[in-house]
Amino acid sequence: MPSVTKEQVLEALRRVNDPELHRDLVSLNMIKNVAVCDGLVRVHVELTTPACPLKDQIGKDVHREVGGVVGVKQVEIEWSSQVRAHAALQVHLPGVKNVIAIGAGKGGVGKSTIAVMVAYGLERMGARVGLLDADVYGPSIPKMVGLEGARPNVRGEKIVPIDADGVRVMSTGLLVNSEEALVLRGPMLAGILKQFLGQVDWGELDYLIVDLPPGTGDIPLTLAQSIPMTGAVVVCTPQQVALLDALKALRMYQKLNVPILGIVENMSYFIAPDTGREYDWFGRGGAAAAAEKVGVPFLGEIPINIAIRVSGDAGAPEDLFTRTDERSRAAVESFVRNVAGQVSIRNAQEPTVELTIS
Ligand SMILES: Nc1ncnc2c1ncn2[C@@H]1O[C@H](COP(=O)(O)OP(=O)(O)OP(=O)(O)O)[C@@H](O)[C@H]1O
Ligand SMILES: [Mg+2]
Repeated sequence: MPSVTKEQVLEALRRVNDPELHRDLVSLNMIKNVAVCDGLVRVHVELTTPACPLKDQIGKDVHREVGGVVGVKQVEIEWSSQVRAHAALQVHLPGVKNVIAIGAGKGGVGKSTIAVMVAYGLERMGARVGLLDADVYGPSIPKMVGLEGARPNVRGEKIVPIDADGVRVMSTGLLVNSEEALVLRGPMLAGILKQFLGQVDWGELDYLIVDLPPGTGDIPLTLAQSIPMTGAVVVCTPQQVALLDALKALRMYQKLNVPILGIVENMSYFIAPDTGREYDWFGRGGAAAAAEKVGVPFLGEIPINIAIRVSGDAGAPEDLFTRTDERSRAAVESFVRNVAGQVSIRNAQEPTVELTIS
């Protein structure tokens, strides 16, 4: 039997497309090494995020194509990941590869909960993550991640974020107490945020997650003017009115030239803990329909779940993943992976999707 060559393997890998980036693994520079020995082929695949939603699919396709080369007896894949950076951001926040804003058209839909979910989800999957609480009016992140009363260190001119279970967290709530924050007016708070952005020493981050205050006020504007964000995740709940608010938020990001990574439907449905039955209290599915209508990705449905609420109240973000039931956890993880996938797509191509929001 003829011996297999590296070139044959590479040829086979050129037939494997990244299902989202629609280009082959070789031209995407995702193949880091190929070793062939006696019909055994080892392929080193470098993903664009450790939270890749398509890893299984890519693995299957590599096995099929490389395994189909005459003479190949066995295929082994070595995985690694290297998060790609949003190029425009590098001048503003060197070391931070991506900034992801979590926003909504209105309050109370679960932005902060979703921000914590994305931050800790990505961290658990192996990424280096920061979490910035930009809700200067009512910062809730310190409580949600168990940092109430904590104070960050200052190194030279820079504020060092606090490491909370592996995620680097910064919030005005860690600097100013809530009574003081209440007497400051909007523009002053926006000024504080701006100053803040330049003074926090994030170090090296794959993703910086930003929790925004409710609505479409001056904070998202300040943020968009200060740093080029990779994109925004819009949170909504299934009710009709909430969807209208989500459209408002989408329009705002469009005006600010912030790419939209997608919409997530929070408190989408309820899984009864005793029977496992799902109840659609508020009309599940509205966000998916809205996303399709305006042509933005739909990122997932997060159920309403007692463990999610308790995790926030208790300041125990890891409980989002360890105390939720299996189906809720799967929904959360799939959403987090979809966010990471959309970031990779954004960084691989210039934004070409035109929104059709009227
Ligand atoms: N999927 C969920 N299941 C159960 N409780 C949830 C869920 N999402 C959010 N909550 C709870 O709903 C409340 C509001 O959530 P959160 O503070 O994240 O909203 P927000 O949009 O950030 O609010 P604000 O506009 O005040 O900043 C919190 O008590 C939170 O624990
Ligand atoms: Mg909030």
